[in-house]
Amino acid sequence: MSEYLYFFNCSHLERELFEGEFAALFNRENEGNNLLCDIYVPVDNSVYIKDALKIIYRHPNLECLLSYIKEENVTYDDYKVVYLKDKGSPFDYQRSLELTRQVGMAIRGCANMNNPESTIGITFINGEYIVGELSHGQESWKKFLNKPHTFCNGLDLRMCKTLINLATGNNPGVTVVDPCCGMGAVVLEGLNQGVDIVGFDISRTNSYKARLNLEHFGYDGQLIARQAISDLKIRKDVAIIDLPYNLYTPITREEQEEIILSGLKIAPKLILVAHDDYDEWFKSQGIEIRRKMTVKKFDNGTFTRLVYILER
Ligand SMILES: C[S@@+](CC[C@H](N)C(=O)[O-])C[C@H]1O[C@@H](n2cnc3c(N)ncnc32)[C@H](O)[C@@H]1O
Repeated sequence: MSEYLYFFNCSHLERELFEGEFAALFNRENEGNNLLCDIYVPVDNSVYIKDALKIIYRHPNLECLLSYIKEENVTYDDYKVVYLKDKGSPFDYQRSLELTRQVGMAIRGCANMNNPESTIGITFINGEYIVGELSHGQESWKKFLNKPHTFCNGLDLRMCKTLINLATGNNPGVTVVDPCCGMGAVVLEGLNQGVDIVGFDISRTNSYKARLNLEHFGYDGQLIARQAISDLKIRKDVAIIDLPYNLYTPITREEQEEIILSGLKIAPKLILVAHDDYDEWFKSQGIEIRRKMTVKKFDNGTFTRLVYILER
């Protein structure tokens, strides 16, 4: 079974969201900035995975590690070796450079420092030398920054990606709906990750522009339709709702609550992005809060969102 070592990076403002996503992707609670496990998550599937190593070998003794590389004829044409520095790394720059040189010498094949086809990473974590094939995040979601139609209360693309992960938990079979999809940012990101996802919006303009956005990136525009959430007859595994709030269109608290209840009729699990605290009301409705995450935009807390994982 393959093993992977992941390195994470996250701002303190998004720590709770990162931890929620981590639990969804890796089925455990986060305990640090790296994780060794046998679960494969493509490095680009999370905005918080900085680097990932597909492990070739790990051992507490460097000589044993180097012997393994030589004896197993680990071979790459066109490779370079880099040292991955973790917070607790005991090695200074010179020592880490020496390690990359030793690993590079043990590998068979031609090194290419400028434009390598493969990058091999070496690191030292929890008393072990770990060597593996390195993947570095490419931030593929950034292409959606250029979608033709946006609106200023649209969700940040990084957040869209995390919402998809909270919904699917690295399981591509999960079906998802965004019933208040606005310009379709969450749907686009879901499609980018190969998720079975559709979107709806009550607004003719928004649903039309969301369709154009999908088509702009080569997706089927018919995955978006104009419909009010209360009229939806579909059933999906998870709904993601970025709750409309009183920014451009007036909406009452009762209408927001109706949207949440409708969301839980079309899916037993709801990922909700809200601006207000609904804890007491959820309790009164028998809605389970599986997780609640606060996401701040600024340190002074001026723009704070709550992300709930809800179940009924
Ligand atoms: C906050 S925006 C969603 C923005 C979206 N996440 C994005 O990033 O583009 C909320 C959307 O909900 C839609 N909406 C409001 N009430 C609705 C309802 N009853 N049924 C479906 N959509 C509704 C609005 O038209 C608006 O586009």
